[in-house]
Amino acid sequence: MTELPAFKLIVNGERTAVRADGDTPLLWVLRDLLGLYGTKFGCGIAQCGACTVHINGQPVRSCSIPLSEAIHGEITTIEGARGPTAKAVINAWTARNVPQCGYCQSGQVMSAIALLSEVPVPSDEDIDTAMSGNICRCGTYLRIRAAIHDAAAQLGKA
Ligand code: FES
Ligand code: FES
Repeated sequence: MTELPAFKLIVNGERTAVRADGDTPLLWVLRDLLGLYGTKFGCGIAQCGACTVHINGQPVRSCSIPLSEAIHGEITTIEGARGPTAKAVINAWTARNVPQCGYCQSGQVMSAIALLSEVPVPSDEDIDTAMSGNICRCGTYLRIRAAIHDAAAQLGKA
């Protein structure tokens, strides 16, 4: 049996290595090989945002990025979301009781952190634009928007 190639990658600040085909979607590497189950599978075609993680701080759809590409940046999943912006977002999510079923929420949170890292005081329009790729079948959009405003305010006070 031919051995699968080895890839080195940095996930949540830690160096690690996996053996997989280079075209394996990053999502499956995170979940199946690294046991990081916070990142969810929704559509598999970059349409729903459930699988959102960061590569070098930018939100990406991990279902649609092959491992061979993902290794070129630092990957952050919901499990590794740290720092003042992540804390403010997670606090605001909790205070607003944003999740219903919760399935989409790790992707929502990762997109919100990325937005606030780029735009500290986003308008409703900025939020709707930045979050438009994250679908919520439970319809938590209004609470998501309110929580992002709350997180921005919280960060402004820091
Ligand atoms: S599972 Fe990746 S965008 Fe839907
Ligand atoms: S909270 Fe259920 S899909 Fe968003």
